[in-house]
Amino acid sequence: MSIQSPVKIVTTHVLAEMKQRGEKISMLTAYDYSMARIVEEAGIDVILVGDSAANVMAGHMTTLPITLEQMIYHGASVVKGSKRALVVVDLPFGTYQGNSKEALSSAIRIMKETAADAVKLEGGAEILESVKRILSAGIPVMGHLGLTPQSINKFGTYVVRAQNKEEADKLEDDARLLQEAGCFAIVLEKIPAALAEKVAKQLVIPIIGIGAGGGVDGQVLVIHDMLGINNEFSPRFLRRYHNLYEEMKVAIGHYIEDVKNRDFPNSKEQY
Ligand code: KIV
Repeated sequence: MSIQSPVKIVTTHVLAEMKQRGEKISMLTAYDYSMARIVEEAGIDVILVGDSAANVMAGHMTTLPITLEQMIYHGASVVKGSKRALVVVDLPFGTYQGNSKEALSSAIRIMKETAADAVKLEGGAEILESVKRILSAGIPVMGHLGLTPQSINKFGTYVVRAQNKEEADKLEDDARLLQEAGCFAIVLEKIPAALAEKVAKQLVIPIIGIGAGGGVDGQVLVIHDMLGINNEFSPRFLRRYHNLYEEMKVAIGHYIEDVKNRDFPNSKEQY
């Protein structure tokens, strides 16, 4: 994205305005240049280079193994394919927890080496020092509360989070702390819709939900899930807009057939 860009760029300020006027924010993940171009041209507001790349791109069971270098590779590829959308890159597991200096240097690497617009971190009070340090360097931060996949080994399960009062109260406190620290938005993942709506009403910054109901300020999905490229994941909150796994398999089957039958290439498809 260039500052001379003739198209209107979605900034963190634009997202705040969208919340103020009640316009819902659309966000999807992308991990490569070609997919970024498609979601960009479709008119998405925010592209998340999620560490879900560990699952859908690399085939890992959790998001924990992905490295900073790999996130930088995905982030830089996505930024090249985006013009108008705000691009947010996840800080991967182990690059910001427990050491705010390391958190800042990880975030600086993301910003310098990808040219993304912001970073996203999972957690509340326990990572607040890292969030503040990153913000102090002028790097916009998106928070992420509720089901935080980088902590899956602590939770032990992907069930809906914050269903009891203690956890719900902590989530509300964490959301407030992140806003006070200066985060420009927060993702709430897989929590009761009523709680997500309450947080969205209490906070002035945009709340983006995934499995958090319709009472929040925007929605995010993993692109491989919503397009049906990934057919191994069917949570209740997911709406599938396509069945690309099957459609791509059929198309590839036709290609294999054409090669085997000597139908491809024909005389017009050669030099
Ligand atoms: O990594 C990711 O794709 C995410 C979304 C699920 C919000 O964090």
